Amino acid sequence: MSDWNSDSWRARPAQQQVLWPDRAELDRIIAEIRELPPLVTSGEIAGLKSQLAEAACGERFLLHGGDCAESFSDCNSSRIASQLKILLQMSLVLTHASRKRVIRIGRFAGQYAKPRSSDTETRGGTQLPSFRGDNVNRPDFTAEARRPEPRLLLRGYARSAMTLNFIRALVDGGFADLHHPEQWNLDWVSHSPRASEYKRMVDSIGEGLRFMETLAGVRVHQLQRVDFYTSHECLLLDLESAQTRAVPRRDGVWNLSTHFPWLGARTSQVDGAHVEYLRGIANPIAVKVAPETTPQQLTQLCERLDPHQEPGRLTLIHRLGARRVGELLPPLLRAVTATKRKVLWVCDPMHGNTEIVSVAGADGQQVPVKTRAFEHILSELEESFDLHRREGTNLGGVHFEMTGENVTECTGGARGLAGGDLLRSYQTALDPRLNYEQALEMALLVARRM
Ligand code: PEP
Ligand code: CO
Repeated sequence: MSDWNSDSWRARPAQQQVLWPDRAELDRIIAEIRELPPLVTSGEIAGLKSQLAEAACGERFLLHGGDCAESFSDCNSSRIASQLKILLQMSLVLTHASRKRVIRIGRFAGQYAKPRSSDTETRGGTQLPSFRGDNVNRPDFTAEARRPEPRLLLRGYARSAMTLNFIRALVDGGFADLHHPEQWNLDWVSHSPRASEYKRMVDSIGEGLRFMETLAGVRVHQLQRVDFYTSHECLLLDLESAQTRAVPRRDGVWNLSTHFPWLGARTSQVDGAHVEYLRGIANPIAVKVAPETTPQQLTQLCERLDPHQEPGRLTLIHRLGARRVGELLPPLLRAVTATKRKVLWVCDPMHGNTEIVSVAGADGQQVPVKTRAFEHILSELEESFDLHRREGTNLGGVHFEMTGENVTECTGGARGLAGGDLLRSYQTALDPRLNYEQALEMALLVARRM
């Protein structure tokens, strides 16, 4: 690829970049990050790519999920462990149902920058820059908090490394050992309406495992560890290119800040800077497919990003909304099938189902709250499975915004959270997430469908 290098994107229009007040400071910080060791290795990335190629062929299933945006203050042991626990529990349920190995990819260790629909936010006549994630500025509505600070990029890099270090240590220490799935329980699991269904499944897996080990007379050691991969939106191109490099003994140029970067819906212009950057790196990449994406644009994106039809290279994450998925998805599936590529198709049932509801605040005044309804999320997923089956394609994964915490951000689920419950524990700075119970229930319902 002689016309590409890790800075060739600079000649293209870049959406969603930050207006850094101090450009010289940014350059200094980026130069510092360039010299730091990578967060992940090309060997791990190549391993993930071959697993994704198997998922594209229907041999594995992808579970991709986590916070909408990570925050620096949530970089602590209990939050990280509970995010792993919910991913593990969901993957156990999905494996049990699909009889396929599940690839677990977290939206973590770097998901610190967000695209926004507007550069500024106005409240009561005051206009300030929008909050763009902890890598850029802070959420409080003050001029000082909203000022983009390049130094935060360095802190984000350190937080990513700490997160990843803890995940690796937990996994190496047997945290994810299938012999002890009871370790993944979060405190309040036993109160959940779905707890008994989950417990029955775990018991039956334990029995199967013991039976197999007795039969074979050996302990199945591979089941003592599972892998997690990291992922974040490829958004701030100065930062992404700072960790993009060639490595000894392996071809290609790699983004070593994450295993699996994705192209967001707001930055997917075929001739834009983000596509230019992503087309040259060797990582597997994902592309969000929004209602605005036409079949023709999707075909062009596939050709630009995966010219050699490389197995595992391209994952397409459709997020079309329950209302329109039936109308919009089939032509997109047909367009990609016509290019003869074997992509991995994934459904994100979150981002097309965001709505604003009005609820009574503490002082009795109505306030607008961003939420998502469990039934819409489930309905988009179920319909997506059907549409893929009808078109002869394979839905090989799911993408969720979720948390291991007991938050009240999405309505519905077995406990029937209503609009009036939302403010009880509404913690997200950006998009509403499934809470622990809702996420596990979603996995159980998807599993039934599979
Ligand atoms: C996201 O995944 O948080 C996001 C912003 O998604 P999209 O680009 O699909 O809107
Ligand atoms: Co989001």
